[in-house]
Amino acid sequence: MSTHTECQDSGDTAPSEELPPPSQPSQPSRRRFLQSAAAAATIGAAPHLRAQAQTPAAPPMPGNPAVPPRPVTLNVNGRAYSLQLEPRVTLLDALREYAGLMGTKKGCDRGQCGACTVLADGRRINSCLTLAVMHEGENITTVEGLATQDTLSPLQRAFIEHDAFQCGYCTPGQLCSATALLEEFRGGAASTVTADVRTRPAVLSDEEIRERMSGNICRCGAYANIVAAVRAAHGNA
Ligand code: FES
Ligand code: FES
Repeated sequence: MSTHTECQDSGDTAPSEELPPPSQPSQPSRRRFLQSAAAAATIGAAPHLRAQAQTPAAPPMPGNPAVPPRPVTLNVNGRAYSLQLEPRVTLLDALREYAGLMGTKKGCDRGQCGACTVLADGRRINSCLTLAVMHEGENITTVEGLATQDTLSPLQRAFIEHDAFQCGYCTPGQLCSATALLEEFRGGAASTVTADVRTRPAVLSDEEIRERMSGNICRCGAYANIVAAVRAAHGNA
């Protein structure tokens, strides 16, 4: 691979007579593109380190004074994280950029994809739509907290056994959402496809699973296998 890259790069060092005249804007070279991409990847590799290094806050909007960071303690996966957060920081960014828990994914950042789903006191929420300061005192569970020690949760095992992912980007959100789904169903919660919402749904049918997981988008289209995995984890396989 590196040989191929070197070979391609050598094409950027063409004789000077082949370069565009100085008055014309130069074309972006492959080498420059690769250098830019590598620099971007390096920056993205440790975002929480950047955040913890006290990245300067964005300038305040006119007439909208900046609110300084304040101490916030988040209980995540049974561990207390003491953070310095501006009140505007979302729970998603607090988890990823400040606590260094990169399992929770940012897809749309606007409540449409479910990739950022975590559990707050057992209730599934889109962490991109809520502020971290609102969750002090709650028990937050991310995908990193679903397994115990070295043992995967039954749902995690079912996802593997049923091949319920392809790229895996949506999977942390799917797993958190499905974990809450199973508890909601066991607790007798109805859904919009439950025939009679006054009575506990008798069976967690595929239709029920699809409806209850409809907030979690999978761009790879692994839906059939996700439904099979949830069904298996529930015990109706
Ligand atoms: S990143 Fe939160 S719903 Fe898409
Ligand atoms: S497995 Fe790729 S987005 Fe769902």
